[in-house]
Amino acid sequence: MTKEEKYILEIRNLSKIFDADTEKEKEVLKNVNLKVDRNEFLCMLGPSGCGKTTLLRCIAGFESYDGSVLVNGTERPRPGTDRIMVFQDFNQLFPWKTVEKNIQYPLKLQGIRDKAELKQRTREVLSKVKLSGHEKYYPYQLSGGMKQRVAIAKALALRPEIILMDEPFAALDAMTRNELQGELLRISMEEKCTFIFITHNIQEAIVLGTRILVLAEGGRIVVDEKNTIKRPVTPASEGYGETWERLHSALY
Ligand SMILES: Nc1ncnc2c1ncn2[C@@H]1O[C@H](COP(=O)(O)OP(=O)(O)OP(=O)(O)O)[C@@H](O)[C@H]1O
Ligand SMILES: [Mg+2]
Repeated sequence: MTKEEKYILEIRNLSKIFDADTEKEKEVLKNVNLKVDRNEFLCMLGPSGCGKTTLLRCIAGFESYDGSVLVNGTERPRPGTDRIMVFQDFNQLFPWKTVEKNIQYPLKLQGIRDKAELKQRTREVLSKVKLSGHEKYYPYQLSGGMKQRVAIAKALALRPEIILMDEPFAALDAMTRNELQGELLRISMEEKCTFIFITHNIQEAIVLGTRILVLAEGGRIVVDEKNTIKRPVTPASEGYGETWERLHSALY
């Protein structure tokens, strides 16, 4: 068993320049530093274009950057199954594969061949996202909300250390969004996993986050606070209004 470091994720002096040495050169992230505790649910708010997605992609290892990203104390510049990304787009599943095959594909790539194990893991994660019995469905037979549930199940099946979520509920209607927030909250409290979750929605950050960041231009962290409101959080919860106001004034 490997030694557990104090922080599951540590970002040190991370900078990202797109189109370096061209006239389009743009420094999107400037010297970002961040330490994330194990099992934290970190929500990131910030104006459009401030670099949230870029930061998440750097953590995932999809982008090159200056500085370091350490997972459990080890530099992780490349993608790996310790960090799994869930996107906003409903079309992140292979349309030609069933739910079951979508979930199992990355597991097989990881070298899991045992049919019973694959079936067991699929059953387990589908139950977690309340989609038991949907193994044989194709993505076109699912609603947007159900597709996002499958995307979450697929991530959970890999048992990652960190799940990275880029506005996964942004394209859902308000009712489905509320429902999925509740499901994700429950899952996050049951799983031994750290979540980094980007949203534009202050309510969503307060409902889900154990810690909330507000980013500004260049990925500068202008708010970094623990969310101490008693869960499950509703707009009637004590402290909700003040927190909402504080985050809102930091954002606008
Ligand atoms: N591949 C790329 N090449 C060049 N510039 C890019 C690239 N990806 C992102 N950018 C630029 O980086 C900046 C930050 O983009 P990013 O997508 O990280 O913002 P964001 O905070 O996620 O915004 P939003 O809230 O709208 O999703 C933008 O100015 C964008 O144009
Ligand atoms: Mg984005």
